[in-house]
Amino acid sequence: MQGKVCLVTGAASGLGAATARGLAQRGATVVLVDRDAEKGALLAEELRQAGDAAAVEFLRADLSAQAEIRALVEDFKRRYTRLDVLVNNAGAMFPERRESVDGIEMTLALNFLGYFLLTHLLLETLKASAPARVVNVSSRSHARAQINFEDLQFRAGYDGLPVYAHSKLAIVLFTYELARRLEGTGVTANALHPGVVATNFGTQQGGRTGMLIKLFRFAFLSPEAGAKTSLYLASSPEVAGVSGKYFVKCKAVPSAPASYDAATAARLWAAALALTEERDHVIT
Ligand SMILES: NC(=O)c1ccc[n+]([C@@H]2O[C@H](COP(=O)([O-])OP(=O)(O)OC[C@H]3O[C@@H](n4cnc5c(N)ncnc54)[C@H](OP(=O)(O)O)[C@@H]3O)[C@@H](O)[C@H]2O)c1
Repeated sequence: MQGKVCLVTGAASGLGAATARGLAQRGATVVLVDRDAEKGALLAEELRQAGDAAAVEFLRADLSAQAEIRALVEDFKRRYTRLDVLVNNAGAMFPERRESVDGIEMTLALNFLGYFLLTHLLLETLKASAPARVVNVSSRSHARAQINFEDLQFRAGYDGLPVYAHSKLAIVLFTYELARRLEGTGVTANALHPGVVATNFGTQQGGRTGMLIKLFRFAFLSPEAGAKTSLYLASSPEVAGVSGKYFVKCKAVPSAPASYDAATAARLWAAALALTEERDHVIT
C-alpha cells in the first residue's frame, strides 16, 4: 500500500482502529477520522511510533453532522491531492430515537447519510486517483430490513435493532448503486459484513439485544479478525476491479434479495440527495 492514501472513518476504536492498523502495517498513508480527538490522537501516535506507515494523520469530525463532514472534506482536500481507499466504517446502534444536529434520525444520519455524503464529496478525488476503492461496512442484519420510504426516519415505531438493520440495508443498496454509477471510472465500491466482533458496538444497548451482546461477547471475533474483510477489500490485488459486491470472510456472497432492487436503490439515492441537500456528483 506504499504510495496509497487511505481514509478510515470510526478509526479511533474497534474495527476502524484494526483496519487503520492493518493499512499502516502495509505502508500506506493513513488518515484516521473519528469524533473523539483524544482517542484519535493516541492511535495516530501509536501508528507513527510503529513506523510502518508512510504517514499517519488524525482528523476529527462528527460524521452524523453534515457541516462537519463538509469541513472534514475541505480540510482533507487542502492536505491531500489523492485518495486511493475510502473505508466508510463509523456506525452505531441507538437504543432510543434521537436526532442529529441536522434534525435527522441519528442511525440514518450516521450509518447511511454519513457514508453517502462523505463518499459523494470525495468522489472527484477518488476518480482522479483511480484505480481507487470505496469500502462500506454494512452488516448481515441488513437482511432483516426493507426500506421504509413512508418513514425513513422512524418517527413512528422506533426500535434500535430494526432501525440499525434498515441503515445497513441502505448501505448495501447505496454500494450497488454507486458501483453502477461508477462503472468505467476505475473506482470500485463494495460492501461487507465483518462478522460478530467484540468492540464497543452495542454496549449501550439495553433489553434483549444488549443482554445477548453481553452474554455471548466471549465468543465474538477480535477486532483484528473482524477487520480482515475490510482490509482485504481495501488492499488485496485479488479484488482489483471487483465492484458492486457484498463480502463476508473475504468472499463475495449474495446479499439479501431486497438489496438488489435497482428501483429501490435509485429512490433511496434521490432521498439521500434531498436529505443532504447535495446535487448529483456521480453522473459521469
Ligand atoms: N461489532 C460488530 O459485531 C459489528 C457487526 C456488523 C457490523 N458492524 C459495523 O462495524 C462498524 C464499526 O463498528 P465497531 O464494531 O468497530 O464499533 P465501535 O467499537 O463502537 O467503533 C465505532 C467507531 O465509530 C466512531 N463513531 C461513532 N459515532 C461517530 C460519529 N458520530 N462520528 C464519528 N465517529 C463516530 C466511534 O467513536 P466513539 O468511540 O466516540 O463512539 C468508534 O470509534 C460499524 O459500522 C458497525 O455497524 C459491527
